[in-house]
Amino acid sequence: MGVKKRIVLFASGRGSNFCALADAIQKKQLPNAEIIALVCNRKDAPALLEASSRNIATHVINSKDYRTDKGFDRDSYEAKLLETSLGLKPDLILLAGYMLVLGRKMVEAFPRKIINIHPSLLPKFRGLHAQRQALESGDSMTGCTVHWVTEGLDEGETILQAQCPILPGDTVETLSQRLLPLEHKTYIEAVIKVLKELK
Ligand code: GRF
Repeated sequence: MGVKKRIVLFASGRGSNFCALADAIQKKQLPNAEIIALVCNRKDAPALLEASSRNIATHVINSKDYRTDKGFDRDSYEAKLLETSLGLKPDLILLAGYMLVLGRKMVEAFPRKIINIHPSLLPKFRGLHAQRQALESGDSMTGCTVHWVTEGLDEGETILQAQCPILPGDTVETLSQRLLPLEHKTYIEAVIKVLKELK
């Protein structure tokens, strides 16, 4: 089997993708992988409780602590995030509802090691409120995309996509609810695919 691949997750909120991935690893659906830690930029993120209940280590780098009168001190925040991440020696970093854009230093420190999930069929509907953007577009189909992370917002190469219908009468809530289980399944499948290709 060899040494297990070290996976670190980043999240900001609810953490349902984190839970899906952690549970898949627990059930040995992901070959040869272990979750080393969850990194959160919000100290009140429900994802932290989910990690603790699974005995997964947590690191909070509270982005609110980096607010200054000149705005968000992104450089100091990123420096701390980089230091923490390097210390964890990850083979893969999985962004799971991590709501901040990663800066150049993080992306360059972990080339082809950072993965994100986005709730649209990229390149459509990048950025925030992807489900609302999809509804407002009049499209009859949307989905989710698991992709490599680059400096550009939701721009890196696609690893896996899955489609989901938009139904008449859908709201942001009903569409998000339909999409979420598909996100979980697709993220797990994408990570299995990447792990198989990792040397
Ligand atoms: C998901 O829709 C994910 O695609 C997006 O943010 C949401 C996070 O949900 N990036 P959760 O915290 O994983 O439940």
